[in-house]
Amino acid sequence: MLNGIWLGCQRVKARTAVIPAAGLGTRFLPVTKAVPKELLPIIDMPALQLVMDEAVEVGVDHIVLVSNVNKPGIEAYVRPAADVVQRVRASGRIELADRLARIGTDVRVSVVYQDAPLGLGHAVGCARDVVADEPFVVLLPDELMGDSHLLQSLVDAVDSTGVGAVGLMRVARDEVSSYGVITPADGAPHDGPFRIVDVVEKPKMEDAPSNLIIIGRYVLTPDVFDKIARLSPHANGELQLTDALRAQSAESPLAGLLNKSARYDTGTPMGWLTAVIDIALNRPDTSNALQAWLRGRVEF
Ligand code: G1P
Repeated sequence: MLNGIWLGCQRVKARTAVIPAAGLGTRFLPVTKAVPKELLPIIDMPALQLVMDEAVEVGVDHIVLVSNVNKPGIEAYVRPAADVVQRVRASGRIELADRLARIGTDVRVSVVYQDAPLGLGHAVGCARDVVADEPFVVLLPDELMGDSHLLQSLVDAVDSTGVGAVGLMRVARDEVSSYGVITPADGAPHDGPFRIVDVVEKPKMEDAPSNLIIIGRYVLTPDVFDKIARLSPHANGELQLTDALRAQSAESPLAGLLNKSARYDTGTPMGWLTAVIDIALNRPDTSNALQAWLRGRVEF
């Protein structure tokens, strides 16, 4: 049924993931003086590892990190390190050792550089030469998902429709001006991929077409690179991915899917802190001890 309403032409599962990780992490200074914010620990796991795991879970076999020459820690982290894997394995953490081992072996990692802070559209455009001419995933590493359901649904939607798809969530009206905001077709969104007729980056609350925002999971078709190449900068000098999607949605459909899983925005110190606590409360090896400590520490 879906195929009847979409006009896209490519029917290929996305296998490449682009992870923009060139930002200097100003909000996390001074820690980001030495540690890229993508490597901040979520308990004992760098946020980047969780995002890469999410991509690998949906079938990605090539990860493109868009980094910055001033963040050598990113490359150090993704460099294969058999000795580290061996030490983790020897400590009995077999599943973790397997997760670490597949990066750089089963999963190819490429690093490209964004040489100036020119926005998300520019960052994704920097990956053009290493992304094959087929649909690709974009994961913003400031956002962590409770599981890979949304990404899998986006990959499947693009596979079945042939058009790009973005993850969405509903927020309070006074939050819309921090995000890309969509205009859904045919009134209220329903389950499954629905058509987006327009997108706008960070509108004023009173101008926003809805309270449905784009979150940091996209599966895009490669023609978006041509749209990125033709972007004009915003007043702050940045090229916005949302504008490229807007140009694309004027020519071919764009699909949206509502997220139904947990989502954590770790882009601010408070967001990071609450994400760590929430994830620790859900993780079997930390949940009981943390709950016990919190009960003693916090008066409810
Ligand atoms: C970026 C995108 C925006 C999207 C948001 C999701 O904004 O430009 O459209 O809604 O990510 O987190 P940024 O967080 O870079 O300001």
